[in-house]
Amino acid sequence: MTHLLLEVSNLKTVFPTDGGVVNAVNDVSFSIERGKTVGIVGESGCGKSITGLSLLQLVPNPGRIEAGEILFYRDDVDEPLDIAQISPRSELMRQIRGNEIAIIFQEPMTSLNPVYTVGEQIAEAIVLHQEHKRSPLESFGLQKIPKWARERAVEMLARVGIPAPEQRFDEYPHQLSGGMRQRVMIAIALCCAPALLIADEPTTALDVTIQAQVLALMQELQADIGMAIMLITHDLGVIADMADEVVVMYAGRVVEKGGVDDIFYNPLHPYTRGLLNSIPTLGGHQQKTLPSIHGTVPHPLALPIGCSFQPRCAERIQVCEEMPTLSTIDAPKNINTGKEKHAVRCWLCEGKTDVNTA
Ligand SMILES: Nc1ncnc2c1ncn2[C@@H]1O[C@H](COP(=O)(O)OP(=O)(O)O)[C@@H](O)[C@H]1O
Ligand SMILES: [Mg+2]
Repeated sequence: MTHLLLEVSNLKTVFPTDGGVVNAVNDVSFSIERGKTVGIVGESGCGKSITGLSLLQLVPNPGRIEAGEILFYRDDVDEPLDIAQISPRSELMRQIRGNEIAIIFQEPMTSLNPVYTVGEQIAEAIVLHQEHKRSPLESFGLQKIPKWARERAVEMLARVGIPAPEQRFDEYPHQLSGGMRQRVMIAIALCCAPALLIADEPTTALDVTIQAQVLALMQELQADIGMAIMLITHDLGVIADMADEVVVMYAGRVVEKGGVDDIFYNPLHPYTRGLLNSIPTLGGHQQKTLPSIHGTVPHPLALPIGCSFQPRCAERIQVCEEMPTLSTIDAPKNINTGKEKHAVRCWLCEGKTDVNTA
């Protein structure tokens, strides 16, 4: 039996716009093993969210998946399912979204419905999961929430660390702090015990202490449920404690990927090293960000020739005006998996590279 849960190969997601076609996700490949955490990291605009949304066929209009495979190895099913080939509105895709792959976003206020209490919303998720069908929240209202669902929702509130869960059940989203709202979103996402949780900047809107608490909660629940997590963030610091594997994205492409130790102890791409130098350090009581990468991510319709990072790269050489391929590093095999999985897209590393994986 394979431990593989999801295998993304050469994924390309595009947005046709008036100015031309935006390649938001360009030839992206990575895999997620059962129960493990993969961190997707890169500055804003690098294609992280669109990668996550592609896995659920939730790419907003007029975007679409143009190429590639998203193989999903479901429980007790021999043949993997290619999510890239499933229609976004199909019953099958809805089942996967509701039961097997869940997603949480940065700002829970936009995902929670302001006119229902948090308890009702968790209870609804519980009832929907139980019945395996969609019934709008309006249809059962507070008085019709089955007692068992209310009890289970209170349990969930307690499980995600919300104090006085009985009272909190009847509160509305605006009455909760940002951290508490994110805990509610996590409770909703986990009602179905998904095989994969996609967490898109789940703690970016929270202050540092609360951020650490929410990440710790996600890890705890991961251990309980055995789910995998795809953790999307612009902050490599968040990845350090959480991820087993890391995928570094720049301008829609993977520029480096590997085990968390490869990325933190042997970063090869100048962009990865720049992100590492930007990790906020706690100097005294003041948090400080070291600006280490100059300039900004290029506009997707005005990418530089060759390596997309070269205009910002201090180590740029002549050949960088051609696009480097993503190549695995000729390094000792990973002791845990026996695989060589550290890969980088950079001409400076060509001497160290072995098999072309692009
Ligand atoms: N609705 C859209 N229309 C056109 N381009 C979009 C749309 N949504 C995202 N993009 C483009 O796709 C690229 C990747 O966006 P996104 O995945 O949101 O980046 P990230 O999550 O890394 O900040 C960006 O260049 C963005 O401009
Ligand atoms: Mg994003």
